[in-house]
Order: sequence, then structure tokens, then C-alpha cells
Amino acid sequence: MNGLDDRIYIEGGHQLKGSIRIQGSKNAALPMMAASLLHRGVSVLKGCPRIADVFCMEEILQNLGAVTWWENHDLYMDCENADKWSVPFLFTGKMRSSVILLGALLARNGKGSLGYPGGCVIGKRPIDLHLLVLRKLGAVITEEAGLLMAECPRLQGTVVSFPKRSVGATQQGILGAVLAEGKTVLENCAREPEIQWLCRYLRAMGAKIEGDGTDRICIYGVEHLKAGSMQVPPDRIVAGTYICAAAITRSQITLENPPEGELEAFLEVYRKMGGQYKGNSGKLLVNGEHVQKPVELLETAVYPGFPTDLQSPVMAVLATVKGRSCIRENVFEDRYKAAQQLVKMGADIRVQGKEAVIHGGKELHGAIVTAWELRGGAALILGALCVKGVTVLDGYSYVQRGYEHICQDLNTLGAAVKRMQE
Ligand code: EPZ
Repeated sequence: MNGLDDRIYIEGGHQLKGSIRIQGSKNAALPMMAASLLHRGVSVLKGCPRIADVFCMEEILQNLGAVTWWENHDLYMDCENADKWSVPFLFTGKMRSSVILLGALLARNGKGSLGYPGGCVIGKRPIDLHLLVLRKLGAVITEEAGLLMAECPRLQGTVVSFPKRSVGATQQGILGAVLAEGKTVLENCAREPEIQWLCRYLRAMGAKIEGDGTDRICIYGVEHLKAGSMQVPPDRIVAGTYICAAAITRSQITLENPPEGELEAFLEVYRKMGGQYKGNSGKLLVNGEHVQKPVELLETAVYPGFPTDLQSPVMAVLATVKGRSCIRENVFEDRYKAAQQLVKMGADIRVQGKEAVIHGGKELHGAIVTAWELRGGAALILGALCVKGVTVLDGYSYVQRGYEHICQDLNTLGAAVKRMQE
């Protein structure tokens, strides 16, 4: 989508108040959808977010021969006849995370092929660790004219030590190992909550997995997996984004279904800025009224460190906080696209390599800005909430990849965000 229908208008300066529900987690749902391929029957993900990336993964499953349907937010996937094993570049080019299907295709069919997933605006995003773990499990993988071809009649359990932590590569190894012959030990695994949710889902399907959430995961291969059925957890990055909305507008809001214990590093930074919150019978009461302190140095890191996906949203908040803050992005090479757009709104942000120095407190103003990727787009919406006047955001379709109804949610809280059509 592009042009006027990919544009939203945000009239800033409104205090927020009230409560909202958090959508299901994009980054939990996508690997759980890939895992559903491992059962030759109907699996269901309840409370699944209706977002572009999920629809893309759904289309891929259909392309493989699955039949899918929705009942409200419950996504049903009948993978009985999902016996095709090739995912064209049409899909992998637009959604990199589809690369984790390779392990699932190998586990189900003994072979799989997919168009080489490109990089994206936040960095090169190689897949060497994905190929490493599958090769260690016995897959023969070749690449010809941008098409990855993997084959192995049955993957063999082994010990794989990742040279660096990768969420996707860890998920790739788990999906390849659950139906492999024998025991697999994955070392130096990523510890993101989405790894644990994938393992909970697979265990509910009959997989034998231990150690998820730590950096060492053991998987004992089984012969087959039964139907999956699980509630998708609330999206921790969407929750963090909305807490940033309260912070940037100095408002009080309530999150009705916050993720449990998955935002500690983010909340620590939010508290440092002067943000307040408290749990109350399962809800999270957020008070951003006293957000006023800069953050000397904020470093993104693998979990349980500060999540890179909330780096841009927090940058927007820091642009409104008087004083000097510094962010160091340690996970991706090029994740400051939102900075130059916030500068158009009057922010003082200087990017130098991995670091962004923010001299906050200047009055921001409306502007015409462009989202180049998902979380940067969300950050621009946050920036627009606090300025006097109207901001026009182009590239809203990037935001729709991960946020099911951010405009509607923010308007429920008292913001004034309009789509072109309205
Ligand atoms: C997942 O991406 C998330 N996506 C990302 O969220 C998130 O930012 C990232 O994890 C880090 O938390 C999904 O879960 C669908 P990585 P992933 O492999 O798995 C390098 C969002 O906004 N690397 O942990 O791709 C890579 O380049 C998205 O929702 C290799 O070098 O992230 C990066 O620098 C954006 N070789 C670092 O590791 C590989 O084979 C971490 O990437 C794989 C990754």
C-alpha cells in the first residue's frame, strides 16, 4: 500500500485516560503458526492478533496446502494436507521471519525450500545461524539463484552451540529438533519470552523440551505431535509502546491484560525517567505524569536486557524530556530511522554509529513524517501525540504489520488519530 491510503493524521496535545486491552503477541504467534505445520490436523491459536504479518504467515500456510479460518481472534489451521514444501520469495522477501519455516518443513517433509529472505531497513539480518543449526542437525542446504534448498530424510539430534544469541535461529533449532531422531542440546540460546511460548505450545502438542528460558535447551525427538491449542500471550512490545504513550503525554492509563513479568528491563528505564506503575488485580495502572528525567545511557540487549523493539518508542519519549539522554543500539546495525523523522518534528537527536544522543525538552511540532519500519513508525505516532498541531504519517502499513488497532486504541484513550478514509 502506498499513497494517501497509507497515511494517518494525528492531532496532538490530548491527555490520555482510560483503559485498553493488549493484542496477542506478533512475535509469539508467528513461530507458533510455523509449529502448527508439525501436526497433520487442526490446531488453533486463540487470541491471535489480526495483523499483516500474521495474515502473511497464514497465506504461506495456505500456499503449502493448509486450510485456515478465523473465529473472531481464534485462528484455526488444518495442516492435514499441507504437504507442499516450498515458500516462494514473494513471501520470504516481505516477511523475513518466515525463514523459521525451513526447520518446520524439514521436520515434516524431510525437505524444504524458500526464497532467500532479504535484509531490511533495521540491518543486514543474515541467516547464517539458522543454516548452521539445521546443517548441524543433518540438513544438506544449498543455495541456487536466491532459493534455499534443504534436504534430510530425518534430522538427527546433536549438540549445537550458537556463536551468538538469535531469537529466530533458536526457534529454527527447536522446530527442527522436536521430530528429529534422538536428543538435541542447543547452547547459547536466546531467552526471549517468545522462545518459551513456542516451547509451551510444542509441549502441549507432545514435544519433549526442557530448559526454555535459559541459554541451554534440550529437545528429545518424538515420532509425531498432536493438535496444538493455546492462547497467544499479550504482546509485550505493544504493551511497552502504550506505556510510552502514557509517558510522552504525561497521562495515566490502565492496561487491562499486561504481559506477566516480560517487561522488567523496560519498566526499569521507565521508572528511571520518573514513570510510575502498579499492578492491580491483573491490570497495570500506568502513570506517566512525572516523566521528566533523562536517561544517561540506555543500552539495548538480548533478553532479559532492554528490548531493541522498544528502543525507538523510548527515544520518542526522551525527546520530550529535558536534558541529555543517550541510547546505544547493540542488537541491530541500523535501527535509528525514526530519529531523522523525529528531528523533522523539532527533536534534537544526533546519531553516531550505534549511539543516538538526545537533547530533550525542545517543543516538538507537527510535520509530515515517514515510517520506514514497524517500531520506528510506532515511535513517530507517539511523538505526534504530544505536539500541538497535526502530524501526517506516511507508511502506516509498516505499523499495521505489528499493531492491530493502534489508532483505535489511542483514540479510545482520548487521542485524535485519523485514517485518510475518515
Ligand atoms: C526477532 O527477530 C523479532 N522478530 C524482532 O522483532 C526482534 O527485534 C529480534 O528478535 C530481537 O529481539 C520476530 O520474532 C518475528 P535475532 P530475529 O535473530 O529473530 C543477527 C519486531 O519489530 N543474526 O535475535 O530476526 C541479527 O542480524 C521485530 O517485531 C545473525 O547474525 O532477531 C541481529 O543483529 C524486528 N545471524 C541479531 O542477530 C542469524 O542467522 C539478533 O537477531 C540471525 C540473526
